[in-house]
Formats: sequence, structure tokens, C-alpha cells
Amino acid sequence: MRAIPSKILPLRKIKRSGTTCLSRTSGLENNATNGPQVRFSFVAGASPSLAKGGRSALPHRGHRPRDERCHSSGVEHHLNRIDDCHSQLSQKPIYMKTFRNIIFSLKHRISNGSRVSIGVYIKGFENIRLGRNCKIHDSSSLDASRKGRIEFGQRVTINRYADLKGGAGGVKLGDGVEINNQTVIDGTGGIEIGNDTLIGPGARIISYQHEHAAGKLIRLQPTVGKSIKIGSGVWIGANAVILAGITIGDGAVIGAGAVVTKDIPPNAIAVGVPARVKSYRT
Ligand SMILES: CC(C)(COP(=O)(O)OP(=O)(O)OC[C@H]1O[C@@H](n2cnc3c(N)ncnc32)[C@H](O)[C@@H]1OP(=O)(O)O)[C@@H](O)C(=O)NCCC(=O)NCCS
Repeated sequence: MRAIPSKILPLRKIKRSGTTCLSRTSGLENNATNGPQVRFSFVAGASPSLAKGGRSALPHRGHRPRDERCHSSGVEHHLNRIDDCHSQLSQKPIYMKTFRNIIFSLKHRISNGSRVSIGVYIKGFENIRLGRNCKIHDSSSLDASRKGRIEFGQRVTINRYADLKGGAGGVKLGDGVEINNQTVIDGTGGIEIGNDTLIGPGARIISYQHEHAAGKLIRLQPTVGKSIKIGSGVWIGANAVILAGITIGDGAVIGAGAVVTKDIPPNAIAVGVPARVKSYRT
């Protein structure tokens, strides 16, 4: 394995005899005239001559007059080069991690016009199906690593930090569905959402729950999945919770913060905890 060159070791701040020092494995003295005195010193891995301002392995520095060498812009130049080098190294594993995302993204961009950000967290690529012109935004998550598939119709939008898990039952979204930021959808019991339904930010649609008989740790009891069906043209408000086994009829509205524990008929407006039908869309 190649040793990491000493010049890319990270910058550390140290205190020395009342002077603030930024220390690296290599660097140069800086007698800044403005503000507090800052000294770049060699603490490890460099020759003593370098510590005294001698010739350096860094480009150009050894050939420049001392005054110029100590000028703060020169220092910044070298530090920037080192930081660039450092960040290139530290980014390498990220490139490798996102390689499959890039392929996935390119494939869908070319084949059906869908835009999948490279920053999406994706697991179970082979179980994910996207229709035409979908948009999957950065920092959202699609996990289809278990039995259930994640399937989208056309023009589906998944906004940032939305988290979809196929689980064992799968998640199926119709055409034109929009899932807002930070929504969690868990398809353990299976979830189907009809065309043109809008899910507000922070909603929780979780199709399982834990059995919770007395006398035994809940953690040790099985989970029970029950399917959730949400119709077409539904609007689910911010932070609403839809429990396992619920059916919400076409065109219904679920108020912000509602907890839906019973089925909601089509076109009903349901609000509160637990959600009650307040009125109907007319
Ligand atoms: C459910 C909602 C659509 C109802 O809107 P509306 O038809 O204009 O209803 P009103 O504001 O006239 O309120 C009607 C009644 O319901 C109550 N109510 C409205 N929204 C409520 C809510 N989220 N939770 C509890 N009660 C609610 C009102 O207090 C009012 O009660 P009252 O008759 O006792 O005075 C709306 O209040 C809501 O929750 N919208 C979600 C907003 C959102 O999440 N935006 C994110 C965008 S995706």
C-alpha cells in the first residue's frame, strides 16, 4: 500500500508561547503583519531545514525569495493545493459508492427521461421500476433491498429526504404522485397510492406495527404488516400519520397532523387525532 504523502496530512491548530500556530507535516513561516501572528511550522515528517524556511518539496516555494515565500497569499496558495489534494483523496470512496447510482441515473435518463439525482440513497436497484419523466431528488432514499418492489408510474416526484422502503410488501405509486420532503413510506404490509395524489412534508405511511401482548418485550414480538391503499387525487397534509390497514378513498383530504386510524371515504375531509370526517368536498 502506498504511504500517504506527508504534505496532505490535516491542518491542526496548536498554541505555542502565546502564538497561534497552524501546523502540518510541512509548511512555511508566515509573519503576517495584519491581525494576530500566524506561524506555519513543521511538526512531523519534514526535515529541520524546511522548518527553518529552507527548500521544500512543495512546488515553487524553494525558488522564491524568502519575503515572497512568507507572504500570506503564497501560504494560502500552498494550503489550497494541499487541501485540494486531501479532498480528492477523501472523495475517492464516495465516487466508488455512487458508481451504481450514476449508471442507474444515466439508464433512466436515456431510456425514459426520468431524472434521478446521484445523491439519492438507493438499495436494491434491481427491484426499483420507474415510469417516464419521474424526478427523484437529492438526499431522498429508495430501499428495495427486501422482497417488495418500489414501482413508480409516470411523472412521480420524490422530494429531498423522503424515505421509501419497499419492505416485504412493496410500494406502488401511480402517475403524477408527489411525495414531499421528509415523508416516510414503509411498505412492509404493502402500499398502493393512486394517480395524482399529493403527500405533504413529514407524513408517515407505515404499513406494519408490532404485536404488543403483555408480559413479553415488544421488541421480541413479531411485526404485523397490513396493506395501506390510498386512492387517486388524495391530498395528505403535512405530518399526517396513516396507520397499517387503512384505506383512503379517491379525492379525500387528510388534515395536517391527523392520525388516521379508520378508513376514510372518498372526497371526505378528515382532521384531528384520531382523524374524523369533518366535511366533504363539494
Ligand atoms: C384539512 C384542511 C385542508 C382543511 O382546510 P379547510 O377546508 O379550509 O378547513 P377550515 O380551515 O375551514 O377548518 C375547518 C375546521 O377544521 C379544523 N381544522 C382544519 N384543519 C385542521 C387540522 N389540520 N387539524 C385539526 N383541525 C383542523 C378547523 O379548526 C375548523 O374547525 P371548526 O369548524 O371547529 O372551527 C387544512 O386545514 C389542512 O390541514 N391543510 C393541510 C396543509 C398542509 O399540510 N400543507 C402542506 C402542503 S402539501
